[in-house]
Amino acid sequence: MNRKKIQSTLFEALRKAGKILRSSLGERRVIEKKSELSLVTAADKAAEACIVKIIRKAFPDHSLLTEESPPFGNSHCRWIIDPLDGTTNFAHTYPVACVSIGFEENGRLEMGGVFDPFRDELFFAARGKGAALNNRPLRVSKTGTLSESLLCTGFPYDRREKADEYLPIFKAFMMKVQGIRRTGAAALDLCYVAAGRFDGFWELKLQPWDKAAAMLIIEEAGGVLSNFSGRPLTLNDIQNAASNSLIHQEMLEVLKPFQRVGK
Ligand code: IPD
Ligand code: CA
Ligand code: CA
Repeated sequence: MNRKKIQSTLFEALRKAGKILRSSLGERRVIEKKSELSLVTAADKAAEACIVKIIRKAFPDHSLLTEESPPFGNSHCRWIIDPLDGTTNFAHTYPVACVSIGFEENGRLEMGGVFDPFRDELFFAARGKGAALNNRPLRVSKTGTLSESLLCTGFPYDRREKADEYLPIFKAFMMKVQGIRRTGAAALDLCYVAAGRFDGFWELKLQPWDKAAAMLIIEEAGGVLSNFSGRPLTLNDIQNAASNSLIHQEMLEVLKPFQRVGK
């Protein structure tokens, strides 16, 4: 693996796609609906086309898993791409959104980057090399108890049908923590756990592109990720929990009654 070339390709793709997002916020161009609540804007498509072009030029035979197109290739090297995480925010001109790109070799995440073009914040990690925010080392928070914690969550796109399953989890945490935020961009939420801005996060039904890059960033920043039963998180898990590690056991206790939710 040519780490240097992978990293420079990753950075170029993140920054160029981020530029597209920054310059098109405010256009309010929803061009498609995947479902009643799941939107696609012109920016999702344009950012994805830009990223794919950059990666395919550098690594023509690598596989791609992108949100807006069918999977490509069968190489042991795979890029996992969310060109715009936070589309609903973006479509309403609420500037909380990012680009997320993970790189995997033989099924193991090796590099990941998440770029927030509205704050010019680039979160990055390479396996075994630590995590960074704009080149400064990142570390999870030191908050030791749930009662002192600020958590974050999100609700999947089937929330109208499944509200009665999702809201009890929210209530259970609400009774125990200092605060809960719902920002609308899961990749950024996870990076904020890595940065110590949130102490923990949970959400059901994330897709591989929502979390691939951020999973490695959290791990490399000293945090942990699991399903609601405590098993280490995989890209295909439906239940996602992440934390600074210190509050993980307490989070799992709150999640215990909900181990069947989403399945
Ligand atoms: C969504 C966002 C949101 C989360 C959803 C995701 P998208 O991604 O990350 O925060 O709650 O589950 O699907 O559609 O904006 O890329
Ligand atoms: Ca997403
Ligand atoms: Ca997206």
